[in-house]
Amino acid sequence: MASKSNSSVTVSLNNTNKSVDLPVLSGTLGPDVIDIRSLYSSTDMFTFDPGYGATGSCMSGLTFIDGDEGVLLHRGYPIEQLAEKSTFLEVAYLLLNGELPNTEQNDEFTHAITNHTMVHEQISTFFRGFRRDAHPMAILCGVTGALSAFYHDNIDHYDETSRMISCRRLIAKMPTLAAMAYKYSIGQPFNYPQNKLGYAENFLHMCFSVPTEIYEIDPVVADAMDKILILHADHEQNASTSTVRLAGSSGANPFACIAAGIASLWGPAHGGANEAVLNMLNEIGTKDNIKTFVDKAKDKNDPFRLFGFGHRVYKNYDPRAQVMRKSCHEVLNKMGVSDPLLEVAMEMEEIALKDPYFIEKKLYPNVDFYSGIILKAMGFPTSMFTVLFAVARTVGWISQWKEMVEDTSQRIGRPRQLYTGPATRDYIDITKR
Ligand code: SDX
Repeated sequence: MASKSNSSVTVSLNNTNKSVDLPVLSGTLGPDVIDIRSLYSSTDMFTFDPGYGATGSCMSGLTFIDGDEGVLLHRGYPIEQLAEKSTFLEVAYLLLNGELPNTEQNDEFTHAITNHTMVHEQISTFFRGFRRDAHPMAILCGVTGALSAFYHDNIDHYDETSRMISCRRLIAKMPTLAAMAYKYSIGQPFNYPQNKLGYAENFLHMCFSVPTEIYEIDPVVADAMDKILILHADHEQNASTSTVRLAGSSGANPFACIAAGIASLWGPAHGGANEAVLNMLNEIGTKDNIKTFVDKAKDKNDPFRLFGFGHRVYKNYDPRAQVMRKSCHEVLNKMGVSDPLLEVAMEMEEIALKDPYFIEKKLYPNVDFYSGIILKAMGFPTSMFTVLFAVARTVGWISQWKEMVEDTSQRIGRPRQLYTGPATRDYIDITKR
């Protein structure tokens, strides 16, 4: 991984006359980093950064984010251009391999993914163990972890071919599992993937076709689905990606690592926000209720937050939200759908962006703010929104996992702590407590 150290910082310990020089590393873009790997051995001190807000956990070449400028690049290509001109599978190839594929590479990759979309027939029995009203994310988390049982013995991820097969299996099978989770939750039969269909089309077919009639795929919906998948593919070292990397650093198999990523993504502060946004908009109902909710979000004593707003990194508009907002209008217009929640969302955005609280804290709409409205228009229930996020992010997770496994300098992740518990003390017999 390219980085260079052309300077250093000196940390002087004011309770001693000791000081330590720490190298400063520079990447291609973005802030330099202070390499603190020698800090503990030199000072007997740890750093302390509980939310990792100022901590770089790895070197990576996949995704670059400039939160102040609202920039998002995948292997150097701006997300706006990829969303406009590329396809999800092409972006998947780019994230996995570092370059956009030529025609031959694209055809081989597409053929490989298409021909791995079926899951082992035994997998369907795992679904039968869930209640019909189980949340689809709970089902997806469970059956993805169960994939480990089907592939555990032939995963030597230190072997390049084996690693690539696992990456392709996960990218290929996640839409199938997601669609099965949806079908199971509504009591309809599973649909097998159709190899003649594209990735997004196949997913829509598996979700919405029924045995009793021919399912016509709306090209507008298929195009919007592919674009939504692109916008959610990868996003640097977010919570779920860091979960996948940490799980993978122990040598756990990629299927188990992706299951861990799905679990982390489910939280409403992370990927679960798209479902929470729709629930929030439904609770608001009409424009005249918006101010009440905005005031609640500003109230320090109220834990309520405006879902779909704010971001750990973006202190400007999330570029994905910009694309999603534009796509939202296009899809609803082309589908002839008018959703009052879109009006509520746009009014809320306008109010929040003019509110001093949101301006001062640099809270802008994020990727989750508009996605739910499009997905709802496509016919997905809110409980499936984060599942769709997981389908897309599987590409980012597995590409980051692959990069980590191929990084010869990587070690098992093992953070330390600031201990605040009791000092050493002797055991007290129960009769004396
Ligand atoms: C995703 O990391 C990624 O890249 C994630 C993601 C990806 O692609 O992987 O981009 C996907 O998870 C997008 C984020 C989706 N989550 C939400 O929309 C949930 C609502 N947003 C917040 O919970 C919050 O903004 C976070 C979790 C997204 C970010 O939290 P941070 O960085 O820890 O910021 P913070 O909680 O320290 O907030 C800073 C201030 C606080 O006020 P003060 O304590 O300084 O007074 O801003 C306030 C917060 O109270 N604040 C909000 C708010 N978000 C932050 N106030 C009201 N509404 C909000 N949404």
